[in-house]
Amino acid sequence: MSDRSILLIITGGVAAFKSLELIRELGRAGVKSRVILTKAAQEFVTPLSVSALSGEKCFTELFDLDDEAEMGHIELSRSTDLVAVCPASADIMGKAANGLANDLASTALLATDKRVLYAPAMNVRMWDHPAVKRNVEALRADGSIVLEPDEGLMACGEFGPGRLPEVARLKEEILTALSPDRSLEGKHILVTAGPTREPIDPVRYISNHSSGRQGYAIAASLRDRGAKVTLVSGPVSIQPPAGVELKKVETALEMLSAVETALPADAFISVAAVADWRPATASDTKLKLKGGDEPVSMTFAENPDILKTISNLAENRPGLVIGFAAETNDVSAHAQGKLQRKGCDWIVANDVSGDVMGGENNEVSLFTKDGMEASPRMSKAQIADWIAARIAKALS
Ligand code: CTP
Repeated sequence: MSDRSILLIITGGVAAFKSLELIRELGRAGVKSRVILTKAAQEFVTPLSVSALSGEKCFTELFDLDDEAEMGHIELSRSTDLVAVCPASADIMGKAANGLANDLASTALLATDKRVLYAPAMNVRMWDHPAVKRNVEALRADGSIVLEPDEGLMACGEFGPGRLPEVARLKEEILTALSPDRSLEGKHILVTAGPTREPIDPVRYISNHSSGRQGYAIAASLRDRGAKVTLVSGPVSIQPPAGVELKKVETALEMLSAVETALPADAFISVAAVADWRPATASDTKLKLKGGDEPVSMTFAENPDILKTISNLAENRPGLVIGFAAETNDVSAHAQGKLQRKGCDWIVANDVSGDVMGGENNEVSLFTKDGMEASPRMSKAQIADWIAARIAKALS
């Protein structure tokens, strides 16, 4: 790591003091830190203590003419291997997620062409706020790494997730981000995600509650490992990951056709919650369903099983085909049954009897022909990484 350097942006928060130890620890690993301190951060640590530890000038203001003459903010943001924001306040993440730039730190984040890692630290209610969640999702979709904060007692006396992780973990995450796994470079991976929508008439449809989150996170994680990713997605309300080829579809039939068109691929990952049935005929005009004497009934036609179709292709079958199974009971038996019936190579099963659906965390079991491996309980982004790491290993 001796030739590596990071631009460390320290924002305001009680945890800012940990960044000083981080600078020292990174230095021990041979990583140089050049530091920007925001105005709020200077309430907690001083530019003097930062420069004493980093051995470099500490940058504070955008319109400091001396700094601009020595090194403009553009160069500052690019002459580095990684930008780390630690601790990252709700404010800096909100600015970065929305492209705002009104001080040196936010301007550097907008100007950089390097990967950005955020280590959030804030009150638990702020971390849980929908606006912060939206911003974290947007930053991840843009390709940034946002670490999960630790859980514990906070400086404000409340308990929950929001604490800055310990310095040892921050150092590990930064070192990993500095030497990323690019083992999927040259591979094409096809992912389906989200629900499908099966029309009844021009204004009504049948669908399900799939948010697309897990599939989108897997696509992003595969992209981070260097894969060319085609994401075939049903209608969702989340942002697509940057750098991924997105094919938007509505129905199961459209999804199958988009998947077939995107082949060949090295792996196919079927995360989508495909509707098994569609109304046999979709009316061209809005149906008038009220006021009849008979109860309304509808005839359904079976949709193709996309996973099964791709698993059983005689030509162009991807080398690795993975299905997903959401089960409420007998997870292992159902997953193994699906592995057999569908002809895929792996089934990623999750027990949805608890709070997984729509929740933050997940826990999966990976079934292959050779056995089963269970993941720890983690965030959906970490689950995506866990799965992507195993795909990378299998494909290499
Ligand atoms: N799947 C698919 N096409 C379908 C239905 C499902 O590609 N028409 C894929 C999903 O993307 C997922 C896997 O098949 O990877 C599991 O889907 P599931 O609906 O649970 O399978 P079923 O065989 O319908 O099982 P169940 O009896 O649990 O409904």
